[in-house]
Amino acid sequence: MEEDNIISPELIDNQEERLENSLRPKTLDEYIGQDKVKENMKIYIEAAKKRGEPLDHCLFYGPPGLGKTTLSNIISNEMNSNIKITSGPAISKAGDLAALLTNLSEFDVLFIDEIHRLSKSVEEILYPALEDYTLDIIIGKGPSARSIRLDLPKFTLIGATTKAGALTTPLRDRFGIIHKLELYTPKDLCTIVKRSSKILEVEIDEQAAMEIATRSRGTPRIANRLLKRVRDYAAVLGDGEITLKITKLALNKLEIDELGLDEVDRKMLDVMITQYKGRPVGIETLATTLGEEIDTIEDVYESYLIQIGFIARTPRGRIPLPPAYGHMGYPAPQE
Ligand code: ADE
Repeated sequence: MEEDNIISPELIDNQEERLENSLRPKTLDEYIGQDKVKENMKIYIEAAKKRGEPLDHCLFYGPPGLGKTTLSNIISNEMNSNIKITSGPAISKAGDLAALLTNLSEFDVLFIDEIHRLSKSVEEILYPALEDYTLDIIIGKGPSARSIRLDLPKFTLIGATTKAGALTTPLRDRFGIIHKLELYTPKDLCTIVKRSSKILEVEIDEQAAMEIATRSRGTPRIANRLLKRVRDYAAVLGDGEITLKITKLALNKLEIDELGLDEVDRKMLDVMITQYKGRPVGIETLATTLGEEIDTIEDVYESYLIQIGFIARTPRGRIPLPPAYGHMGYPAPQE
């Protein structure tokens, strides 16, 4: 059931993808939060348009669910161009990428999600395409093989990744614009929740919107998902209007605590505090103990727990910090 992964920032299914599409802002002015990125992108887009050139290639990195795809759709919209959306793992052969590139039109955006997962051979095709819009393809095999060079339309690559550190240096160096997306503040998430409620045509009061915002661990996708669940409770147990009372009831039923922590977060903190007694724990150990993937621990759980000051990364592993002890009901450790 969806409840099991309500805080997973990955998209759950097609239905959720449709919901997300309906809530997605279409212009930079409609896009809430990430002010630094927005301000910069506005300038770059306007400058590119003035010069009649494509926008420089962009790399967006940061935890999942923060709107990297949304932002890319907006950019192509603002450039009055089309967008083709794919992902690193979906481009398995050099030929797949060649097909994508040759089908682009001038100024189009090619969006590659999880770009750190491109294979070496695909990445090598990408370099000349990014640098001077050319594609070198080999025709034939053995001694009669020859290489031909094709000109490509002037396009913009937007790469997205949760792991900027996993990108190879030559690939990273070919992006003219690199931005980190930060977790959203509760205030921005509250604005997003109210905007989404309007689109979903459901009444929500300010306190209820703020309650959802503070329990969404900085992530719009989670905020919108919680809003949808709370809306269900309001429809069945109330008169459809989302109040603070209904919101608290629904979120407590979903076992999302006041800070947005779920069972896995709490188990992780508990293991660190009781089993490892606050000593540094390696990520592999945590992943095994919790039965989660290392990537999930890093991108989803740890990124938020670090952000709220509950854990810290040290060279020898992760340690819990005093606020985590308090939240979990343990006395803070003696120095
Ligand atoms: N829905 C999801 N992310 C959003 C954002 N950043 N601004 C407005 N609506 C959103």
